[in-house]
Amino acid sequence: MTTLVIGARGSIGRHVVDQLLAAGEQVRASARDPEAAGLPENVSVVAADLTKPDTVRAALTGVRKVFLYAPSGGMGAFVEAASDADLDRVVLLSSGSVLLPGAVGNAIAEEHRAVEHQLTESGLPWTPIRPLVLATNNLAWADSIRATGTVPLFRPNGTSAPVHERDVAAVAVAALTGSSDGYADRILTGPQLLSQREQVELIGTALGRDLTVTELSETQARARFGQFGTAPATIDAIIQFIAASDDGRSVITDTVERVLGRPALSFGEWAHEHAADF
Ligand SMILES: NC(=O)c1ccc[n+]([C@@H]2O[C@H](COP(=O)([O-])OP(=O)(O)OC[C@H]3O[C@@H](n4cnc5c(N)ncnc54)[C@H](OP(=O)(O)O)[C@@H]3O)[C@@H](O)[C@H]2O)c1
Repeated sequence: MTTLVIGARGSIGRHVVDQLLAAGEQVRASARDPEAAGLPENVSVVAADLTKPDTVRAALTGVRKVFLYAPSGGMGAFVEAASDADLDRVVLLSSGSVLLPGAVGNAIAEEHRAVEHQLTESGLPWTPIRPLVLATNNLAWADSIRATGTVPLFRPNGTSAPVHERDVAAVAVAALTGSSDGYADRILTGPQLLSQREQVELIGTALGRDLTVTELSETQARARFGQFGTAPATIDAIIQFIAASDDGRSVITDTVERVLGRPALSFGEWAHEHAADF
């Protein structure tokens, strides 16, 4: 039974490919540009773009299970193509924000809610994977760490429980291979609430460097997020989320451990593995 991984070059998708292969599953990988894929040699790589139904239809030939990302243009093209396929399971990388009552109207939550709604309406057999805060977000600090050893932060004492991308992939693989016992659709977090300041310290420990933090006002933070090309509605969502995390409304769950039967990977482990990225 072949599983198609759409977005196999993504930081989570590439672990989904590796872990499915390790579990002895047949894997087909897709990327919008397969030439650039750089995937394991024993994986067949096809071109698929979630905004183009014909490419998805071709990639789905002979496939029974799919892992995919939530595309910014919505799920219409995937649903159209999947209606011709014979799928047993669709595992969507969604967002834990869809389950946060305080995130109503938040652009990131609403975008993922809309995608989930389209899959529900489609009648396809689907399961969401809902991480709340990916540890990989902190790769955005790499340039300033390299250049100055300082990280400019809005509300540095705000806490989150960043989840390792390998754990998110492992929960997705459990959902694809039928061993998730119904926990896969709950919010996924890392094992420990840490302030942004503590996360900087743990990266410093991994690098063997003393790193410092400078505090940004909300106006400065908006300008900084804007430099990365982030859309204004997404900046609002991020600011709202960080402010809530500094007001005692951070969320931590044991879903990863319940699904995988082992503790979730710590942020310190993530920082050591990613030291070369900083
Ligand atoms: N950041 C957070 O804290 C957070 C929290 C909750 C949920 N999430 C979810 O996690 C995602 C990020 O995961 P990640 O770090 O693994 O992402 P990533 O490394 O940026 O990879 C994104 C993948 O999505 C694929 N993709 C995007 N648009 C596509 C399209 N139209 N057709 C086919 N493939 C498409 C890309 O494929 P190509 O290789 O073809 O470019 C790429 O492989 C977010 O987008 C969000 O949905 C994030």
